[in-house]
Amino acid sequence: MKKIIIAIDGFSSCGKSTMAKDLAKEIGYIYIDSGAMYRAVTLYCLQHGMFNADGSIQEETLKQQMKDIHISFQLDPASQRPATYLNGKNVEEEIRTIEVSSHVSPIATLGFVREEMVRQQQAMGKEKGIVMDGRDIGTAVFPHAELKIFVTASAQIRAERRYKELKEKGQDVSFEEILKNIEDRDRIDQSREISPLRKADDALLLDNSHMSIAEQKEWLKEQFNKATHE
Ligand code: CDP
Ligand code: CDP
Repeated sequence: MKKIIIAIDGFSSCGKSTMAKDLAKEIGYIYIDSGAMYRAVTLYCLQHGMFNADGSIQEETLKQQMKDIHISFQLDPASQRPATYLNGKNVEEEIRTIEVSSHVSPIATLGFVREEMVRQQQAMGKEKGIVMDGRDIGTAVFPHAELKIFVTASAQIRAERRYKELKEKGQDVSFEEILKNIEDRDRIDQSREISPLRKADDALLLDNSHMSIAEQKEWLKEQFNKATHE
């Protein structure tokens, strides 16, 4: 069967990566979490003291160091799980902390960062057979993707889902902090100048506020079947 590109965009914490990962596994496609790449750049900036006290970023320093930031997705030999690597180190856990979450959106507004991430993402999708989730996949990275989904859910529900997940992982973070972070990122992601978060005209809209993980998985599989049998 002819391979396609599946672009899944939407708001923070609404279940994009869960559904993208599930589908990719079932249909034998590669799954790429584009948000992990922006998170890895952010982690690098935090590790290298590139944030000023007021939260602004030392742009020139980052620009000069972009060539030293190598991000890849590999199987962790110890856990046998796919993971995000930053300069040869598994950072899958570190990039999911609230500290990274609260610094990532300003990094993702920078044109030179986006340009480099998009270039790498497009190279990953060259052979098709890929499911990628993020904010600008259907609008900027793969505007000709054969299947585009835009996911949303109420901010309250998204914050509850993320809170439960981080609690289970043992992260000490309050519900209010998570809700605020989600609302802040939604605002910055939608209002930035370059490739803001928006639904592509030809994307299918999914509000999964009242859907279980199994239900959303089934819905996505149905859309995939339609897209590949048209
Ligand atoms: O998991 P969650 O939905 O909370 O976020 P993420 O997908 O890990 O993305 C983290 C941040 O990276 C987002 O809030 C955006 O600021 C940025 N991002 C982006 O600008 N473009 C993408 N394609 C993916 C993420
Ligand atoms: O990738 P994104 O930030 O959009 O979200 P995610 O990491 O896939 O999902 C955020 C959390 O919501 C995870 O803990 C999922 O298990 C959970 N979730 C849920 O409870 N019900 C859904 N219908 C979708 C996701």
